[in-house]
Amino acid sequence: MKAVSGFSKMSKEMKIKWLASELEGEAAELVEKMPIYWHQNPDIQKRLDEFSENTLTNFDMPFGVSPNFLINGKMYSVPMVIEESSVVAAASLGAKFWLNRGGFKSNVISMKKVGQVHFLWQGDKRKLFDLFESKKMDLLSSVKNLTLNMESRGGGILSLDLVDMSSRIENYYQLRLNFNTCDAMGANFINSILEQLASELKLMVMQSDLLSSSEKTVDVIMSILSNYTPECLVECSVECPVRDLGQFSGDMTPDVFAQRFMTAVRIAHEDPSRAVTHNKGIMNGIDAVVLATGNDFRAVEACAHAYAARDGQYRSLSSVTLENEIFKFSLKLPLAVGTVGGLTSLHPLAKTSLNILNRPSAEELMQVMAAVGLAQNFSAVKSLVTTGIQRGHMKLHLLNVLNQLGASATQIEKGKEYFQDKVVSFSAVRNFLDSIKHIH
Ligand code: MEV
Repeated sequence: MKAVSGFSKMSKEMKIKWLASELEGEAAELVEKMPIYWHQNPDIQKRLDEFSENTLTNFDMPFGVSPNFLINGKMYSVPMVIEESSVVAAASLGAKFWLNRGGFKSNVISMKKVGQVHFLWQGDKRKLFDLFESKKMDLLSSVKNLTLNMESRGGGILSLDLVDMSSRIENYYQLRLNFNTCDAMGANFINSILEQLASELKLMVMQSDLLSSSEKTVDVIMSILSNYTPECLVECSVECPVRDLGQFSGDMTPDVFAQRFMTAVRIAHEDPSRAVTHNKGIMNGIDAVVLATGNDFRAVEACAHAYAARDGQYRSLSSVTLENEIFKFSLKLPLAVGTVGGLTSLHPLAKTSLNILNRPSAEELMQVMAAVGLAQNFSAVKSLVTTGIQRGHMKLHLLNVLNQLGASATQIEKGKEYFQDKVVSFSAVRNFLDSIKHIH
């Protein structure tokens, strides 16, 4: 494929044509005829196009709902956008089981967001700290124009500190801020404040009488929020008598099942290789709600995994206790999400998701997401320590395989019937379809 200039100025049709012309054979043909999914409302389509650049079409993902979530005494049907079969089913199974056992108890521990101005400065550090302390209120006042609105909603800047990082990198310091961004994820709010503060910092240093002429220059390297928000933290738990777990334990006693479940979670605590997959299962549920509500899944993912490694080893985000015949399963993780601003109000289906959730606050959304993550993790570990994951997974995956192999509607029905008591594999489905190719 050759380099191109002016690509962004081409129409969608021209972009597709150009791409196809750079490919060969079947790939070229298929790209030229690629499926184009326009939103029927041109205004919404324009908005979707404008979320990104060089847009060719929309990308379909299933939008589903997982009902029966009882969280802090309130019932929810939770919208989920996910392409992996069995995730919504697993969340729903978990929700249903805990519904009759008090449901999920979710609690937001704190909602602090973080921002940093990273800068280099050369001189006597005591003078910098003295200057900072004497001018801190002025610095804060200098961004009042940006914070007033958020303050009227109960948020704003919670703290401003100067941090000495010069033992790590020569002459390196930070302005470190904590924010309450209320129901907004707050990225634009935080970044605007940081950039304005960075300019004020430069001025403050340049105009100071305390500093010598060689100390009057601040080199701002960057001003940006941190997606690591360990204090934007939610915890969620479920508990029940061990005997209730009998419904899942098959040939095992509920005690043995509970012990095996706890061992599986302890393995994820001790072994990073298992912990990543364990946490991936949790994020299967959380990401699906993050996507459905128009939140930033990259930020949520990056933060969750950094938090999982907070003591220096990557570990499970969930934990189990078994005390006095009570099985308690908990999850704690940071979730910096919003319910106002950004995509949450611009994307038509993100808006719908928030309406399905009855217009939650950011705090409430964090609680819901944590519950879905825990339900998901419960169902995954339950399957892993009993039947194995493939039985349920491949049953749901069967439809994908049948479709992939071009099965007709009748063949799909026959396939579902045939595989009810059989192991699903790609080759088994192919052989089955071969054996019924005369039926259409
Ligand atoms: C698959 O998407 C997620 C699981 O692998 C999670 C886990 O192993 O705990 C089933």
